[in-house]
Amino acid sequence: MPGAVADLSVRCGPLALRNPFLLASGIWGESGDSLAGAWNAGAGGVVTKSIGSVPRPGYPNPTIEAYERWGMLNAMGLPNPGIDEYPKEIEIARRAGATVIGSVFGGDAEEFARLGARMASTGVAALELNLSCPHAEGFGTEVGSDPRNVEAIVRAVVRAAPLPVIAKITPNTADPAGLALAAERGGAAAVSAINTLRALAIDVRLRRPVLAHGLGGLSGAAIKPVGLASVWQIYEKVSIPIIGIGGIMSADDAIEYLMAGARAVEVGTAVAFEGIGVFGRLVRDLDRRLDELGFARVEDAIGVAHAAGRATG
Ligand code: DHB
Repeated sequence: MPGAVADLSVRCGPLALRNPFLLASGIWGESGDSLAGAWNAGAGGVVTKSIGSVPRPGYPNPTIEAYERWGMLNAMGLPNPGIDEYPKEIEIARRAGATVIGSVFGGDAEEFARLGARMASTGVAALELNLSCPHAEGFGTEVGSDPRNVEAIVRAVVRAAPLPVIAKITPNTADPAGLALAAERGGAAAVSAINTLRALAIDVRLRRPVLAHGLGGLSGAAIKPVGLASVWQIYEKVSIPIIGIGGIMSADDAIEYLMAGARAVEVGTAVAFEGIGVFGRLVRDLDRRLDELGFARVEDAIGVAHAAGRATG
């Protein structure tokens, strides 16, 4: 890149990324062309939308409520074409040269293992397990908030699929680091944290929830401090790489996540608000900001805030 001064490449366990900015699951990942578009716009990798065993239409509208300055509330209901239909989209993204991470959701270890094996056969570079959707009955947080379940699901997928497994951890729990530890015990190559926070908005005129589903998930700038706290706590407990997620709108947001211990970040709401052009902006700004802050490489910033420790009484 012209004018580049910092080395933005980063290793995330077995994954070698050209930069730390990944397209988050569920945003801009409907088709192979949209995934390829995010890659061509500069993303360091792309995570597919979460794919299940059978097609799902998702919840009725309204599914999204945007709050310009601080975030977004959504409950899509895991709409997806199912694992038999989706691989052709992955093929399109792979032909564009993208590093693709396949996201899957299941109701138990057996279903996750089957989906993981199928997803692995599409040629994705890694799997991300959705253990954290905050509102889908029988999936996500419902299966991902018990550490024994997390360990069993990760172990089953690791056995079934010859690929790095990334466990996406919920923030809707007292102990995200405990869930990350369980994923590590199960053989996960990395954890990603966080997913959306369970949240609600009420339309006072209509006297009912704004979203058709009622409860939704909150993302965007408002949840950055929550994501950072989870990454911080996970970093102190586990040794596998962490992918930070939650409210990354600027290069400095990403640097905060790196300093808290993340090796890469996923960007979702900023893509929803700004489009895939956000990746070009983030990459350019990260390059400049790392230089200004005295880092020659992304790798040099990872976890540095922990060295400062914390004040004790
Ligand atoms: C949905 C929301 C999530 O946060 C998630 O992890 C998966 C799916 C959804 O509403 O479709």
